[in-house]
Order: sequence, then C-alpha cells, then structure tokens
Amino acid sequence: MRARMKLRLTMLLIACACLALTSCQNVGKEEEKTSLRIGISLYRGDDTFITNLCNLLEEKAKEYEREYGIKVTLDIQDAKGSQNTQNSQVERFISLNCDVLCINLVDRMDASVIIDRAMTAGVPVVFFNRQPVEEDMNRWDQLYYVGVDAKESAVLQGEMVVDFYKKHPEAIDRNGDGMVSYVMLEGETSHQDSLIRTEWSVQTLKDGGVPVEKITGGIANWERSQGSALMEQWLLEYPDTIELVISNNDDMALGAIDALERAHVTGVNVVGIDGTTQGLEALANGSLLGTVSANKEVYAGAIVALAASCALGEAPPAKYPLMDAKYYWASQEILANNIEENQ
Ligand code: BGC
Repeated sequence: MRARMKLRLTMLLIACACLALTSCQNVGKEEEKTSLRIGISLYRGDDTFITNLCNLLEEKAKEYEREYGIKVTLDIQDAKGSQNTQNSQVERFISLNCDVLCINLVDRMDASVIIDRAMTAGVPVVFFNRQPVEEDMNRWDQLYYVGVDAKESAVLQGEMVVDFYKKHPEAIDRNGDGMVSYVMLEGETSHQDSLIRTEWSVQTLKDGGVPVEKITGGIANWERSQGSALMEQWLLEYPDTIELVISNNDDMALGAIDALERAHVTGVNVVGIDGTTQGLEALANGSLLGTVSANKEVYAGAIVALAASCALGEAPPAKYPLMDAKYYWASQEILANNIEENQ
C-alpha cells in the first residue's frame, strides 16, 4: 500500500515537473519578441541638427530590422518646444505599449515627469542630445544618454582655428593689428552644450597662442534666423572690425553668413559645430571655414541599438561601449576648408 502511494506520488511529481517545463518554454516563446515599438519625442522638429539625426534614426531602424529580423516601428513626435506636450506624448507612447522611449528633452532640467512615468510603466528611456541632470539620470538603471561631449566639440573647434592661424595668421588677423577680433554666437542658455562650447573654444584659442579680443556675443538659440539678425546688427555696430565668427553650431554660423552676404562683406571667417547637411554645403562652397562634425551615423546607430537592447532586456550593445553604464559619447572630427583656396 505504502509502495503504491509512493509510486503515485513520484508519478505526480514527474507530471508536475513536465508541465512546469512546457509552460516555461511557452512563456519563453511568447516573450521572444519579433517586433519593437519605439516612441521618439523631439524637442523641436524644425531644428536642423535634430532633423538630420532623425532621418538617420529611420535608416538605422531599417538596418536593425534587416540585421536581426525584428520589425522596428518608430513613432516620431514633435514636442514643438513644449515640455507639457512632450509629457503627454510620453503618456500616449506608454498607453500604446511602446517597448522603449527615445527622448530629446525640451527642458533638460525637467525630466522628472517622464522618468516617473517610465519607471512606473517599466519602460526604459534613452535620452539624447539634451542631457538630463545627473541626479535624474541616477534615479533608475534603465535610463541612458547618447550625445557628443561638449568640451570635445569646443576644443576641436578651437584647435581648427589655432591651426589656421599658425599656418596663415594674415588670413585670420585680417587687419594685421596682432589681435584676432571675434564675435560669438551662442545656443540656448539652458543647454549643456552652449556654455561649455563658448568657454572652451576661446580657451583653446588662447592656449594655442592666438591673441584674441572679443568684440561682442549673443544668444541666438541655435537658430539660423536669430544668428542672422544678430550678425546684421553687429555689422552695423562694428563695421570693418569683425575678423572671426565663432558659432556654437552650424545653423547660427549659416545665419551669420547670410548676414555677411546681404551686407556684401567678404573675408570674415566663420566656424561652426555639427556638420549638418547645410553646414557641409557651406563648407563645400567655401562660405564656412570649418565645422566640427559629430559622427551622426554612429550617433543614430547607438540610439537605435541601445533602445532595442533595453527593450529586449539584453545587455547593452558591445559596439557602443557605455561610460558609467549609462552614457554613450559619439565621436567627432574637424572638417575644414583649405584656407589658401578661400583667399
Ligand atoms: C546642436 C545644435 C542643436 C541643439 C539642439 C546641439 O548639440 O549643436 O545644432 O540645435 O543641440 O538641442
């Protein structure tokens, strides 16, 4: 009697184990994702650099699909400069069951609503280009950031001018008074890139032995039209004085070039940062002396690969090594004209 009960019990245990095993395998099969939905919110869809990057995000998502056989749907929304709108977009992404969010914050100091929502829903976030403050980034291990190092952009921009000056001081110090007189176009005040780029480009010029004198500077919020308006005003206020325009980005540099062209002023050197499509055109036609270009293929590739890996619950992609397990910094390079050809 006891032996029979023991046998029954053993059989029951084996049956339970088999059941548990098959149901585990079923869960595994259900969870094996064949498609991903990525919610992307842009701080402003009309920003040139962001538009350039966004086009590449779509390309990289298609490449990912081809390589891994996982369908990737990008839901791209424009927050049009409003943090409230962006917060509502995040709400919608979560209600649509997005697997991961890629957020280009409107207000980089105000990420808390998005982070709260993402944490409650368990949806990872890859921020990009507009860096949340460290305190926010440290709130959860499913928060990442992809961008370029602001100091590196500025130092490269400064080194480019130092190099020109060493080779052709007369082309930079055009009136030969031993001083390079410059104006500075700055991006948004709250952006991590503006302050650091402004400070370090000039510091690098000084460290590199270029005698510089600031005529004036102003905030043009990354925009071509605002850069153009400021430059127009400066050309009137300081006629025949400006030798160099240092701009925190290409778009404002292009605005300065627009103003120079309108005023028929030639010979003023203009340098930017970004390597946008429009910036590269200006570089090719010689109106922009040089720019610092982020490797946007890598930048966009990192955003997509990182987003996909966290959505799938995988380890971060080895191709894009993270700093402090959170930050990926895309590389940058100097793209400059040969100054001799421009003279
Ligand atoms: C870019 C700017 C852009 C801004 C937007 C900066 O890193 O250099 O061109 O307008 O990001 O956040």
